[in-house]
Amino acid sequence: MRCADGSKATRFWNLKVTDRLTHGRRMMSLVSAQSVNKVYRNGEVEVAAVKSADFEIEPGSFVSFVGPSGSGKSTLLNLIGCLDRPTSGDLRVVDTDVAALDRKTAAAFRAQHIGFIFQDFNLIPVLTAAENVEYPLLMVQNWPVARRRKRVGEMLEAVDIMAQADKYPDQLSGGQKQRVAVARALATRAKLILADEPTANLDHTTAYRIIDLMKRMRDEFGSTFIFSTHDPKIMEAAEMIFTLEDGKVGPAERSESHG
Ligand SMILES: Nc1ncnc2c1ncn2[C@@H]1O[C@H](COP(=O)(O)OP(=O)(O)OP(=O)(O)O)[C@@H](O)[C@H]1O
Ligand SMILES: [Mg+2]
Repeated sequence: MRCADGSKATRFWNLKVTDRLTHGRRMMSLVSAQSVNKVYRNGEVEVAAVKSADFEIEPGSFVSFVGPSGSGKSTLLNLIGCLDRPTSGDLRVVDTDVAALDRKTAAAFRAQHIGFIFQDFNLIPVLTAAENVEYPLLMVQNWPVARRRKRVGEMLEAVDIMAQADKYPDQLSGGQKQRVAVARALATRAKLILADEPTANLDHTTAYRIIDLMKRMRDEFGSTFIFSTHDPKIMEAAEMIFTLEDGKVGPAERSESHG
């Protein structure tokens, strides 16, 4: 274990052995959840969407949360992606206590580290497909125009949607919108990509193409991919699976095809 300075090292070695082990594991993790709960409150009604979740996800992972509708998959991805905050518990993402971030800091953190593929795409309706993909490169990364255009072209090509580049979201099919959302999330080559059922609207061939693209990004750039899915194709491609049932996260299991 490397400690940045002597005083940190001393503090570390003063911890109990069990705490040292946990601490060591957490230092290596890209995402670390301990007793994370999320309760939605709508007036009198409370829904416990995530219950006491404990898990660790290492950098460069290709993992998926799998579970029936309503089991808490989107809620969990939204928490990891800092779109929402846990009601209680400890959630660290890229070495940051994300539960403690205020809205503005969370937005900046997200922009710097995270690409998000939303279950309902969240494309900007007044921008074309190409402009949607360009948006984070312009507004967040502030890249010059030539560099932006080049990356947008590469991404549209990669998800096979170039022919629809100038169409607006309401002129696209569900699968085409999903591919634009994938291209937008991958365009910045973020350290962490969260993908909420990213192949739900795609045919077999296109789904495999998108999964291949993501695997290549992981291999080439070391990006970490966290999915939620019902799709056996993603379950097969994922190296690790967490099963979710009624808000409870099961232990990490190696996917059969990577056994
Ligand atoms: N904003 C909200 N307010 C109240 N309850 C919510 C809210 N969002 C989600 N829930 C509830 O939390 C639970 C988990 O929902 P979530 O969307 O995380 O499930 P999911 O596993 O993603 O389901 P699906 O596979 O259908 O997308 C559900 O009971 C849902 O009704
Ligand atoms: Mg969902």
